[in-house]
Amino acid sequence: MDGGSSSSSGTWSSPDDDEPKQRPGDSDPGRKSKKKTGLGWIEWLRGWWSVIHECLFQRILASHLQNPLPLPPVNELTCIVTGSTSGIGLQIARQLAEAGAHVVMAVRKPKAAQDLIQKWQNEWSGMGLPLNIEVMELDLLSLDSVARFAEAWNARMGPLHVLINNAGIFSIGEPQKFSKDGYEEHMQVNHLAPALLAILLLPSLIRGSPSRIVNVNSVMHYVGFVDDEDMNVVSGRRKYSSLVGYTSSKLAQVMFSSVLHKRLPAEAGISVLCVSPGVVHTNVARDLPRIVQAAYHLIPYFIFSPEEGARSSLFAATDPLVPEYCELLKSDDWPVCAFISQECRPANPSEEAHNLETSYRVWETTLEMVGLPSDCVEKLIEGQDVNCRYGGAH
Ligand SMILES: NC(=O)c1ccc[n+]([C@@H]2O[C@H](COP(=O)([O-])OP(=O)(O)OC[C@H]3O[C@@H](n4cnc5c(N)ncnc54)[C@H](OP(=O)(O)O)[C@@H]3O)[C@@H](O)[C@H]2O)c1
Repeated sequence: MDGGSSSSSGTWSSPDDDEPKQRPGDSDPGRKSKKKTGLGWIEWLRGWWSVIHECLFQRILASHLQNPLPLPPVNELTCIVTGSTSGIGLQIARQLAEAGAHVVMAVRKPKAAQDLIQKWQNEWSGMGLPLNIEVMELDLLSLDSVARFAEAWNARMGPLHVLINNAGIFSIGEPQKFSKDGYEEHMQVNHLAPALLAILLLPSLIRGSPSRIVNVNSVMHYVGFVDDEDMNVVSGRRKYSSLVGYTSSKLAQVMFSSVLHKRLPAEAGISVLCVSPGVVHTNVARDLPRIVQAAYHLIPYFIFSPEEGARSSLFAATDPLVPEYCELLKSDDWPVCAFISQECRPANPSEEAHNLETSYRVWETTLEMVGLPSDCVEKLIEGQDVNCRYGGAH
């Protein structure tokens, strides 16, 4: 699954050319395609193999990495980190702030974030300048909240260098739930809301160029399938489970990011990436049965700590070779955006993520669902205003 070679030691190449590569219009040369309704069983088996492989071997594969990951100079960077009150996001925010970046914790519980900042400032005192870190409220279960957040941030007219879409949910074993916007909750929190946030923040990311959008994705997208006509999984064509909700949302994020990566002209200087943090011991397991949670504690060797899980996101956000790698993929017309593995190496997203016809449909459906016009990226790049159904005018 992995391709190319690691940064820091040299130049990266495109992921393996033997891997599936599909472009719009050449998806099924010479034959009429039937709309796919799910993963083929070989794809499905390969997907699960990728997941099991990551669970079993992540520590060996990442054994070359230091913990915590040393960061290049980040004093000039302003970074927004969503979901930074626990797990991987908490580590990302803290480490970026301790390395000197201006960090904005975008969270749904501002009081919890303020308490964390207080604690970090106390522990940091005497080690250097006070941490440059602040809190802004953001609830991804409300697209109005996302639009209001972007509006407030853009109104500052300052640069944004890194957006880390980290917040996510995996409501294991729970029944299907819908946000007040009417969308399946995994799809909204893990894909739709981060997608809206990234697009609405483009004016600030352009001001901060070269800048990056880093999506904390998952190896679980390898077993995901997106039905672009049924993103809420309500048609009955597929039976809903939390696994279907989670994996579909993570694959939708890779597909949307791949089209965004293509739509952004090189001159905009915005890199779009997805990363896998590995299998990490965080609150994401809070809904697991007690016995599985206990097993988590028993197998620390295999499972990363949140600090270890933050490395691939921190790498994607700060490594100096990342923009060059993203540009290379763009100039090669590679069908997917950059995907960084838990061992901080370029990897190839799933076979289904290479299905560009579906990716473009996911792109269009996503924009409709979040209330944005289909030419929003082009308009924002040209400095024009874009109206969003949520939050007010932009
Ligand atoms: N842990 C793993 O093994 C693993 C593996 C692959 C990918 N990931 C991905 O890594 C990311 C971080 O997850 P984690 O493992 O660190 O889990 P976590 O400890 O549960 O942290 C998730 C964060 O997202 C926030 N969040 C949840 N719903 C939100 C909403 N509606 N609006 C705003 N913020 C919200 C949570 O805020 P509250 O504190 O307010 O709940 C929390 O800060 C997720 O995208 C997850 O899918 C994790």
